[in-house]
Amino acid sequence: MDAQATELLGKVINPCTGASIADEDRIESVTFKGDELVVKYKRDGIPNKEKQEMEGAMLECLSQVCSVDDIYILSSSTEKKLTGEQTEQKEQSEPKAAPHSHAGSLPAKKKLEQVDHIIAVASGKGGVGKSTFTTNLAVTLKNAGYKVGVLDADVYGPSIPMLFGKRTEKPKVNDEQKILPLESNGVQFISFGLFVEEHDPVIWRGPMLGGVLKQFLFDVSWGKLDFLIIDLPPGTGDMQLSLAQTLELDGAVVISTPQDVALLDATKGLNMFKKINVNILGMVENMSTFVCSSCGNEHDIFGSGGVEKACEKLETNYLGSIPLELELRLSADEGKPYMANEKFQDRSVYKSYVQVANKLVKEVGAKEKKGTISKIFNKLMN
Ligand SMILES: Nc1ncnc2c1ncn2[C@@H]1O[C@H](COP(=O)(O)OP(=O)(O)OP(=O)(O)O)[C@@H](O)[C@H]1O
Ligand SMILES: [Mg+2]
Repeated sequence: MDAQATELLGKVINPCTGASIADEDRIESVTFKGDELVVKYKRDGIPNKEKQEMEGAMLECLSQVCSVDDIYILSSSTEKKLTGEQTEQKEQSEPKAAPHSHAGSLPAKKKLEQVDHIIAVASGKGGVGKSTFTTNLAVTLKNAGYKVGVLDADVYGPSIPMLFGKRTEKPKVNDEQKILPLESNGVQFISFGLFVEEHDPVIWRGPMLGGVLKQFLFDVSWGKLDFLIIDLPPGTGDMQLSLAQTLELDGAVVISTPQDVALLDATKGLNMFKKINVNILGMVENMSTFVCSSCGNEHDIFGSGGVEKACEKLETNYLGSIPLELELRLSADEGKPYMANEKFQDRSVYKSYVQVANKLVKEVGAKEKKGTISKIFNKLMN
């Protein structure tokens, strides 16, 4: 099996040189550990964009011998260790605006001309806090002076209208027959939940999902936005695939709780995004440490630090952790986003959101704004 996997892997082409990775002697080891397949390869000289593309191709070919969910691809770079700074600079000078112009036979992806950055929020498992994160990230970015929109792509359980406190308002259509998004707390949003009654059962089939996604992307009058945040359904299904095939994204943020089971699911999610050539901006640990307001002690209800460790193992950016807090849950239920409430400014959840948003802004290379997130970040941290 190891030999078969090594042979398959060897045929993958380095997009920078056009040579196979076997010819370039890049494979360090290919090892089955039980059901899991761990691949280590030398990444020297391959910038981030091409690395993602190449690892997508590796997953594609290794899926013949192992389930994609069980494949771990780890890269090492001696060049990076020796001349770390120069390599980082080289990566950062990659054109950020077109990170997904992949070679090969993938269908052309569209851009949203008036939107500078598009970030998808994903998770392997349901109920880990994607929608809560999406809403509060959007408000955090808006607080920093950015124009922000939210697209609720969770057609199975759209919760964005509830989280923004607009469950009953209906969107209007303008003279050009474009749907006007609703606005809440300075953030524009659209959701399938605005078009159906809350308890109407809707049965979705693959092509229908692609249709509704395209409508929300291209038939909504988004106007000029700095950020569009897309709240995805849990897991790795048709909606994720449709999104990856339709649109040029900056990348996906994967949310996970610190528990092992949630982390395993998140790992599957990461692999799926790699396979369909979606850039992974990083992972966020949600519902980590809980600070009890009555006893003042910290409790790691779902564990803590697991996501950071997984990021190290998977060589993925760790964006930070959001503690578990009762008021965050209560404000979500009330439809009043936590980050819109200045009275929480001294709380660790508030600071964590600013910290994560700050990292994301840097990661996608967004332009500085008047109320820049780093200024807010520095003010809060001092
Ligand atoms: N850090 C947190 N502290 C406390 N409660 C939280 C936190 N994050 C999320 N929650 C709560 O957890 C529940 C699930 O969150 P949410 O609906 O955002 O998850 P989801 O991943 O979008 O779920 P689904 O997969 O069903 O779409 C909600 O009640 C939310 O208020
Ligand atoms: Mg959700």
